[in-house]
Amino acid sequence: MTMPLRCLARTVGAGLVAVAALTTAGHTAEAEAADTLGSAAAGQGRYFGAAVAANHLGEADYAATLDREFTSATPENEMKWDATEPSRGTFTFAAADRVVAHARSRGMDVRGHTLVWHSQLPSWVGTLGAADLRTAMNGHINGLMGHYKGEIHSWDVVNEAFQDGGSGARRSSPFQDRLGDGFIEEAFRTARAADPAAKLCYNDYNTDGVNAKSNAVYAMVKDFRSRGVPIDCVGFQSHFNSASPVPADYRQNLQRFADLGVDVQITELDIEGSGSAQAASYTKVVDACLAVDRCTGITVWGVTDKYSWRSGGTPLLFDGDYRKKPAYDAVLTALGGSGDPGGPGDPGDPAASCTAAYTRTADWSSGYNGQVTITAGDAPISSWTATVTLPSPQSVSSLWNGTPTWTGTVMTVRPSWNGTLAAGASTSFGFTVAKNGSGAAPTVGGCTAS
Ligand code: G3I
Repeated sequence: MTMPLRCLARTVGAGLVAVAALTTAGHTAEAEAADTLGSAAAGQGRYFGAAVAANHLGEADYAATLDREFTSATPENEMKWDATEPSRGTFTFAAADRVVAHARSRGMDVRGHTLVWHSQLPSWVGTLGAADLRTAMNGHINGLMGHYKGEIHSWDVVNEAFQDGGSGARRSSPFQDRLGDGFIEEAFRTARAADPAAKLCYNDYNTDGVNAKSNAVYAMVKDFRSRGVPIDCVGFQSHFNSASPVPADYRQNLQRFADLGVDVQITELDIEGSGSAQAASYTKVVDACLAVDRCTGITVWGVTDKYSWRSGGTPLLFDGDYRKKPAYDAVLTALGGSGDPGGPGDPGDPAASCTAAYTRTADWSSGYNGQVTITAGDAPISSWTATVTLPSPQSVSSLWNGTPTWTGTVMTVRPSWNGTLAAGASTSFGFTVAKNGSGAAPTVGGCTAS
């Protein structure tokens, strides 16, 4: 029998109270039933990633949300040409290294983004003649892929090489304009040699449904496959909003690419909006990916709305305070995960709290054993503090499953190994007291939790 603290003053006597052994096992299993995006996606054989900015990794909530929820990271800007080779042949990897080290040390995969792209190009690239540009392009690919060899799951080798609109033509860029259509094939061949273990992807936007642009990419991938040009995957950026909603033929489009013998990946997903409408759109995307065997994973283009490139459109799964949005719950559910309405990050989380209940578990002429049971309130807790005041002239000769500090006769006890408790779960610490002539009961003060 254990008693809530508020009853102790009236009821605790010197007599021995039998206490059943306490265990947290049942509660722990309950807490573990709550999935994350990453764990739920893993249950479907997929990764769930986010674009990551190195300069936000020092923000505790940003890093905690990333680390808890995601199994893949894409550096949002840090691997782009202007960030990594600002002047010819001088590579700067510090920011990208920070993202890769953070992700890899936490077991995440990394998507490399991106090697050859018309945007975020340093100006020196645009000044080169054809021969020099070819050498520079291959040098850039070799420089990045060599530095990160073995660390990158998939590389966006070429990004956004096709024009918008109905023509299906290639986009004008230094590469296209000086090297012609063959630059894409050359980039992929160079990339394969640079890191044979990495998956090599072509990545683009507005190719999410069947349309002239995706038809042009499809024709290129089909040609590459038929001629043995090394390509392993196609990335569908999937930036959606009311003017550009999730296409009705999204799944069908993913499937036709998969049928060419490449993996497909959703690489930069974000959907502007809020509430149930945004949630429903996210569900469509996840459902489409799960319906295509070769859709190997989903990356959302940022962790929190506040740092999105479209922050005004609140397009992501966590709001600016890192609270889970309805879109988060929809994605988790679509991935087959079980939600945790009371879990960390949900709006309306109950505050961390605990109670402390005292029992005397053994008693003999010169001493006794006391036990204090700590029980978490309606929220999970990561630590607790309880106080025990001993009647003079008693003294504590030993204490277990807790860490005591003393101020006069007041013993403050904090966890040793047992700070983390699921909501409603319990742990206990015990101590042996030398009576020194007094058998009076100690007073157990309040429990505080964090
Ligand atoms: O870091 C500088 C900062 O020092 C400066 O004060 C500030 C002033 O403008 O600019 C900051 O750099 C910005 C950078 O994002 C980091 O926030 C650039 O101006 C801005 O252009 C850059 O935008 C990035 C954009 O690519 C550039 O094209 C976005 O963050 C990034 O999300 C976006 O990502 C692209 C993908 O790579 C490819 N697909 C489309 C996607 C969305 O545009």
